[in-house]
Amino acid sequence: MEACLGEMESRVGWMPIEKFEYDNSRNRCYEIRANWALYVDNYLEGFHIPFVHNDLNRTLDYDDYRTEIFNGGVLQIGIARDGEPSFEIPEESPDFGLKVAAYYYWIYPGLMLNFYPWGLSVNLVLPLSVDRTRIEYYGFVWDKKFLGKGAGGDLDKVEEEDQFVVESTHRGVSSVSYERGRYSPSKEIGVHHFHQMLSS
Ligand SMILES: [Fe+2]
Repeated sequence: MEACLGEMESRVGWMPIEKFEYDNSRNRCYEIRANWALYVDNYLEGFHIPFVHNDLNRTLDYDDYRTEIFNGGVLQIGIARDGEPSFEIPEESPDFGLKVAAYYYWIYPGLMLNFYPWGLSVNLVLPLSVDRTRIEYYGFVWDKKFLGKGAGGDLDKVEEEDQFVVESTHRGVSSVSYERGRYSPSKEIGVHHFHQMLSS
């Protein structure tokens, strides 16, 4: 966990998170019929965005989507298309000059910290049984003028689209004919990292 905090500090430590305000109207609690690890797989796999998230895909420059792994987690960076909201990144950041629309942090096993220009959405992935998972959302608002806009604009819709895919995948994985395909080196760096952590 300390390695993760160090990684995050060096990357997004410039954000004044002590000023973010907890907003319980953003809380969500979902129960899905799928194994928790499939929910994490989906989160870590950027390949699905153009196929599953129409609206999100209109705000992100998919060709410039980035995935980085670090000890204990994965960082995905969504780059904004022209005219879409992005962070004002200070010079001391390694991402200075980039139009970052979202930082998606996943910390093993089930913590997700999604930073958007409007603030932070914390997601917890809690296994209930082998085929049931609870997802909890907690929202912390930084800049209200970005609420409802860009990559973090409609999280309910994105979540619904993800759940549909994850539940379908669960049904597919449960069938006897399932075989895990090869990992895509460019799109599944994060998933591969997760599976290595699971099996070590
Ligand atoms: Fe998704």
